[in-house]
Formats: sequence, structure tokens, C-alpha cells
Amino acid sequence: MKDLTITTVIKVYQLHELDQADQELLLAAKEATKRSYAPYSHFSVGAAALLGNGVVVTGTNQENAAYPSGLCAERTTLFYANSQHPDQPVVTLAIAARTERDFIEVPIPPCGACRQVILETEKRYKQPIRILLYGKEAIYEVNSICDLLPLSFDASAME
Ligand code: THU
Repeated sequence: MKDLTITTVIKVYQLHELDQADQELLLAAKEATKRSYAPYSHFSVGAAALLGNGVVVTGTNQENAAYPSGLCAERTTLFYANSQHPDQPVVTLAIAARTERDFIEVPIPPCGACRQVILETEKRYKQPIRILLYGKEAIYEVNSICDLLPLSFDASAME
């Protein structure tokens, strides 16, 4: 028997330590939370995707009375980006979330299903997606979803 050790390094920033482009992308994600449809959880999530051509696409969580029919902000954003700009890779994805009171203190990472969709987007465009997670206390950065989804399943497993 031997151990397989997987290590993830998450960079933790204060907002002012990020360059202007990253700060603007995070601001776009925060602004997007205002367009969330979250009458059930009252938890509003916004995402902003910077595409290879410089276009920024935003999206939000969209809930439904039949709960599983709703969709997270990350997938709404990526599916919209890939639908509108199918030839453009996603370079950076910024995510912000708030309760009815305020933005969360500590960043929330994407749910499992969203991680899988982010992975598919990386594979599709053959380039990693930088992910910025906003929290009032700190901003987390990873350079690829592989850092949040180790031992992942993708099409290569079926070859
Ligand atoms: N949600 C997201 O939009 N992204 C996540 O990564 C986690 C959860 C949404 C789904 C649902 O509308 C609400 O947050 C509460 O789970």
C-alpha cells in the first residue's frame, strides 16, 4: 500500500493586491448578484467570465419552484458564454455571492456539478481557466479547476 497525496495551493489576496482587470471582473460578478433569481434560498450568486477576445459575460443563479430545475451562476454563465461565443475560450471566471444581508466573508467554492462543467470548458478550449472567488475577508485564486477537482473524470477516460 502507498499513499497518493494531492496538493492544492490556493492563493489568497486582498482586493488591492489584484490588478485592475481582476478587480473589475470581480466587480462585474458582484454587480451580477443583483440580477440573480433566488426567491427560495435568498442566496444570490454572480459570475463573470472573461473571454479570450476580451468580452466579459455575466450570469447568475436561477432558481425554480421545482428546486433541481434551477441552475447555479457558474453554469448559467459558462453555458451562455459558450452559446454566444463558441469560438472563444474562457480565460478567467470570477464568482461572488451574497445573502440578503451582505456579501459573504469567506469565498464559496463552486459546487461539484459546476466544477465538472468548468473542467469540460477547460478541455473544450484546451486551456486552463483562472478562477477568482470573492469574499469580503479575502479573494481566493486558483489557476485551473484541476486544483478544485482533483482525480477528475473527462473524455480521456473513455478513449
Ligand atoms: N449556487 C450557485 O449559484 N453557485 C454555487 O457554486 C453554489 C450554489 C446557488 C444555487 C442556489 O440557487 C443557491 O446558490 C443556494 O444553493
